[in-house]
Amino acid sequence: MKLYIINKYLAALSGLFLILFLTGHLAGNLQLLIPEDYGAQKQFNEYAEFMSTNPVVKVLSILTYISIVLHVGVTAYLTIDARRKRETRYKTVRSKTNSLSSRYMGILGTVILAFIIIHLSNFWYKAKFTDEIMKDPFGKKDIYSMVVDKFKNIEHVLVYVMAMGAIFLHTLHGFSSGFQSLGVSTSKTRKYFKIIGMIYSLVIPLLFALIPIYLFFGLHK
Ligand code: HEM
Repeated sequence: MKLYIINKYLAALSGLFLILFLTGHLAGNLQLLIPEDYGAQKQFNEYAEFMSTNPVVKVLSILTYISIVLHVGVTAYLTIDARRKRETRYKTVRSKTNSLSSRYMGILGTVILAFIIIHLSNFWYKAKFTDEIMKDPFGKKDIYSMVVDKFKNIEHVLVYVMAMGAIFLHTLHGFSSGFQSLGVSTSKTRKYFKIIGMIYSLVIPLLFALIPIYLFFGLHK
């Protein structure tokens, strides 16, 4: 039981940290919506350079990688454990409901993990570990053109939009459930966490999905 509670805490803390990460990542990526004539390339590449060199951001990046690994590991363990219990003895209504949500959260989490692997190999790996990336006219790594080029391809746009659908459903449950696991939300405040969670899980993935669609239709030109 103690291990179960520790795991629930770790799942919640890492999940809520990833929610913060997504908010910051979105704020930075919204610069991709700046029209090219207004200096989008220069601004985005300067921002990308700052994000990969600033020591505070570096620490936050490491915390992000740790949170992804921890969240995947701990939630996978909890999901498998819930399934094992369901298949053996625990046949109460409560454990059935729990295992149902943990089952669909597990599937959504797996889809999101697959998306993160594709996403990191598309951008992060190329920018950090290869020489494939060109320089912009100001001598900075041209991350902006790499992203714009990627979303000229409809298949990539579709992958991103579908993944944002999975993030919507995953955070719709995960947001309020995380605060509940930490004991922050009580029976009185639960409905407010649910409302904030609903707004978060709608707005963040919608804005993320807007970026590839906007670039695909060349609205930045
Ligand atoms: C339109 C949507 C998105 C765009 C255009 C985008 C763009 C990028 C780019 C360009 C990088 C590499 C930055 C660099 O290393 O210089 C990056 C890194 C990353 N992205 Fe995204 N991203 C998007 C959505 C997402 C989503 C939805 C997630 C998570 C589910 C995500 C997770 C990450 C992570 C974990 C990194 C590594 C961050 C770090 O090293 O600190 N991204 N993204």
